[in-house]
Amino acid sequence: MTTTNRNSVTFTDNRTQKQGEFPILESVYGDDVVDIAAMNRTLNLFSYDPGFVSTASCESAITYLDGDKGELLYRGYPIEQLAERSSFLDVCYLIFNGELPTLTESKDFENIIMTHSLMHENLKVFLQGFRYDSHPMAILAGTVASMAGFYHDKLDIHNPEHRMITAHRLISKMPTIVAAAYKHSIGQPLVYPTNSLSYAGNFLNMMFSSPCAPYEIDPVAEKAMDVLFILHADHEQNASTSTVRMAGSSGANPYAAVSAGISCLWGASHGGANEAVLTMLGEIGSVDNVSKYVAKAKDKEDPFRLMGFGHRVYKNFDPRAKLIKGIADEVLAKYGNDPLMEVAKRLEEVALKDEYFIERKLYPNVDFYSGIIYKALGFPTQMFTPLFALARTVGWITHWNEMIADPKMKISRPRQRYIGHTLRNM
Ligand code: ACO
Repeated sequence: MTTTNRNSVTFTDNRTQKQGEFPILESVYGDDVVDIAAMNRTLNLFSYDPGFVSTASCESAITYLDGDKGELLYRGYPIEQLAERSSFLDVCYLIFNGELPTLTESKDFENIIMTHSLMHENLKVFLQGFRYDSHPMAILAGTVASMAGFYHDKLDIHNPEHRMITAHRLISKMPTIVAAAYKHSIGQPLVYPTNSLSYAGNFLNMMFSSPCAPYEIDPVAEKAMDVLFILHADHEQNASTSTVRMAGSSGANPYAAVSAGISCLWGASHGGANEAVLTMLGEIGSVDNVSKYVAKAKDKEDPFRLMGFGHRVYKNFDPRAKLIKGIADEVLAKYGNDPLMEVAKRLEEVALKDEYFIERKLYPNVDFYSGIIYKALGFPTQMFTPLFALARTVGWITHWNEMIADPKMKISRPRQRYIGHTLRNM
């Protein structure tokens, strides 16, 4: 039984009549939380919440999203304003430091990031150990974890300066590592970073230039990538960010924690969905087949789901999906239309009118249109999730930093409801 006073909730165990009163903590936005940390001590009960659907795992001041309104704020600023008026590096500064940079701070930050973009030469040797056809997410997870061995001079997690330098290193070097993973997969020499280019322009250059052919950075592609990076930069306690927090909560080094986040992101229910969307659209092939696949997605006997649809928190349009659809139109206007865009638009149209999707509040998410843009810009499908990881790195390392700086931090150690054998003898 549960009763609620103004600032607390009282649980009564009806079997024993034991009662426990737990404080309600107010949130700035969103639902308030019940602090049940003392529940086991008071009532000898654990809470049980698979998938954390009703559980706030931490306090955080970084990102807020309102799933009903379809609203996303980084440090209080709406994503639409940041996408329109800011740059990815200014957004990184904002996310990590809490405030938008002044002009001088912005220039200094850009200088720090762009002048630390080289990866250690020995990392190239490490990279060579991967088979050419390894998935780039495997290369990324391995390479980022290995960075603890290359950059161990600043690994005192209790030193805020070390934490900031690690954040800078990760944000600086991630594009170089992602592009290197791609070059390895196609057997081309790695392209070194060019500090004078923009963050997105440098990344495009490392991806698509080669020593034997000049490459001109297209401002449309450069702008599209910068905005896509902004839209993917953080998303509060999603699965990969929670993984980074959990891995880091043991005191593990930040490279190991971020590598754990990369591994989590890879799954098709999370960042891997952008790759899965393109595979799905290719499989659907034509607008004529859309209804058949919508029916498959609704069929409970069929494991097929519409990839790029649905979200744990958004029960309205994912604001990032709206912005991405706009970028897709711009990029395709320049790079030529992709028949898969027609399939995607038709799929969205049919699904949004269908009772099954309306009832369950399933809308296109961030991954639905992003792959079409990446494909138009020349990225192979396997590179889509690494692009997500590149952009999310700032979010991961900021959450890790916030957690370590929190005096209430504890090692994450959930409990369980044991449903195995009772005691038995051999
Ligand atoms: N296609 C068809 N049905 C769906 C879909 C979908 N994409 N997503 C959810 N549903 C249905 C479920 O079958 C369930 O139906 P039921 O109530 O009849 O059983 C209901 O909607 C609720 O779904 P859950 O799986 O309980 O929702 P949850 O919050 O656990 O999952 C998730 C969210 C994983 C994103 C899910 O919507 C999904 O699998 N989507 C496809 C993968 C995807 O696009 N992932 C990217 C998410 S965004 C990101 O991580 C960057």
